Order: sequence, then structure tokens, then C-alpha cells
Amino acid sequence: MRTLLLDAGKIGDIDRTVAILKNSGTVVVPTETVYGLVADMYNERAIRSVFSAKGRSFDNPLTVHISHLDQLEDLATGLDRRVTVLSEAFWPGPLTIVVRRTKKVPDLITAKTEHVGVRFPSGSVIRKVIDKLGSPVVAPSANISGGISPTSFKHVFDDMNQKVDAILKGDDSEFLGIESTVISLVENTPKILRLGAISLRDIRKVLDNVDIKLSNKVTHYRLKRKFDILAIDDVHCSFSDYINEKKETNIAALCFIEDESEIKDVACVTYGSVYNTSEQAKNLYNSMRKLECLPDYVNKIYVHLPKKEKVNSPVFSKILEFANFNVVNT
Ligand code: TXA
Ligand code: MG
Repeated sequence: MRTLLLDAGKIGDIDRTVAILKNSGTVVVPTETVYGLVADMYNERAIRSVFSAKGRSFDNPLTVHISHLDQLEDLATGLDRRVTVLSEAFWPGPLTIVVRRTKKVPDLITAKTEHVGVRFPSGSVIRKVIDKLGSPVVAPSANISGGISPTSFKHVFDDMNQKVDAILKGDDSEFLGIESTVISLVENTPKILRLGAISLRDIRKVLDNVDIKLSNKVTHYRLKRKFDILAIDDVHCSFSDYINEKKETNIAALCFIEDESEIKDVACVTYGSVYNTSEQAKNLYNSMRKLECLPDYVNKIYVHLPKKEKVNSPVFSKILEFANFNVVNT
């Protein structure tokens, strides 16, 4: 399949995107979090192409993206006060809410369950696309299933060229860099299924009794090369001293810009300044992808965890997932 390259900054390219979607096609579109692989939610052929482009299993449901709150009525039933509270606090924005679905939502999207994940993004490009299409869309992250979400045109091109009808390039400097937080309201106790751009602390400010139950389906980073990954929480000894004292020859560090000059004879991939959490979030996935290009002898990665705010930092939680919860306290 030939993939058309479009630019969200060009007049007419959003209309071209919508024309492709109306014609049962799939297009990679930027959202405020990461790039999404978009298809019309009511077009079965297009939805099947989304699963096949990503190599995604049909038992992993897709989330529906809306551009107006009133579109929720068609999709969800039994909505209660908690939906109002969450949507008033975080929509439009990086929160996906899993609720009971209506019959209108195709089985293919929900993995034949009675629930649907809905997100009202704040990204202006994706919202224009939904508005012009006149119906909600599915938009899973536009990476190969199990891989790392794309935060640049290069990432989507590497993963999706020749697998989708078009890629609509956005402004890569504008991504938050981490996916939406997914919260399920299908039981009495709200459950966070994926930690993302909205922190647990922020959600607890507006909603009581929130639990975390990370789903296997969403904690899923896989690099194209196999590494042992250890997350380092430098409580007593600095990250650089810890690495330098190891004197291991097969290692690399995923660390802050400030660490680089302190670490001796070890390849470093940085993901921003220790002081700048939004920069860390923006860069994290690009830096993870860079690890795939390290020399062959490297088979172990030490990752420097951010210091502040721990559980409340989206970057902190993403690194824990990446390291499969292997944490070393120095
Ligand atoms: O920020 C985001 O949410 C991005 C951008 C593109 O919008 N999208 C995204 O979609 O990350 P995806 O499909 O890569 O991740 C959504 C996760 C899925 O892994 C899925 O397992 C979970 O949300 N999910 C979706 N619907 C669900 C449902 N009905 N019940 C439980 N989990 C659900
Ligand atoms: Mg994903």
C-alpha cells in the first residue's frame, strides 16, 4: 500500500484526511498526547485495517475519540456523576474513561465486551478531523502493537509507512509525549487501568476511592532488541556514582542531560533535564527508541528515575513499566 504523506499545517490536507476516512481508509493523525491511527468508528473495513496495520489482537479494545460532549450519549449508557466530574475536570484532554456502552458501538471496537473507552482530546488537528468527518473515530497509538507510542513523524513513518493510507504530519514539538490516562468506571470503585499524562494525584483531587489496577494489555513496551532494564532510584548514592562504580562493560544509561558529563565510559541516551518534567515527558519515548540503535555488546540499561513527585509523575510511572518494575534503590 502506498502511504500518502500529508501535513496538518497545509490548507486542504485535513480535508484530504477526512476524504480518505470517508472512503474506508486509515490515517495517522496527531493528538495532544501522541500520534493516533484513526479510522471512522462505524466503518468495519477501516477498523479491521487498524488492527492489521498495528498487528493488534482483536481482544484488545480500541478507544473512541469524540469532539463534542454530546457525542457521548450515542456511545455510553448509565453515566453517573463521576463522568460529569471527570469530564468537567479533564476534558478536552488526556483522559480516557471506560464506561458501559450502547448497542451502537461496534463489537469489533470493544473486543465484544459491554464497555467502551471514550476520550475527548484537546488536540486541535484530531478535533477538526472528527468534526469534519461528522462521527467519532478510533485512535489507538500509531505504533506496532506492543511497541512504543510515536511522538514524532519519524516514529510513525518507521512503524506505519505502507501500512496505512496516509500520515498527517503535525507539529512534533507540541506533543505531551505520554498517552492519556485510562480510568474505568464500570465498577463502583473507579480503577486506573493505565497511568498516563494525568496523574493519580490529579484524579484523586476530584474523585474519591480511586484504585490502580494496571492492565496487562496496556503495560506493554517492547523494544526491537532485548535488554535487561533496571530503574535506578538514587536515594543515597548518585546515579552517576552508582554506574561508575559498577565498572560493567555491557551497559548503557538512559538518563538526564546533567548525568552525561559525570558518567565515565558508558553510552548515555538522555531524556531531558532533571529539572524539566515536561521536557522529560516529551523526549522519553524518542529516547527509548534510540536504545534500539546502541552497539550490539550493550545488553543492559540503567534508567535514572526522576526525583520529584514519584507516583505523581507520568514519566516515573512509564519508566517503571518500561523496566518491568525492576527498581534498585541506591
Ligand atoms: O493518548 C492516547 O490515549 C492515545 C492517543 C492516540 O489518543 N491513544 C492510545 O490508544 O494510547 P491505545 O489503544 O494505544 O491505548 C488505549 C488503551 C488500550 O491499550 C486498551 O487496552 C485500553 O486503553 N482500553 C481501551 N478500551 C478499553 C476498554 N473498553 N476496557 C479496558 N481497557 C480499554
Ligand atoms: Mg498504545
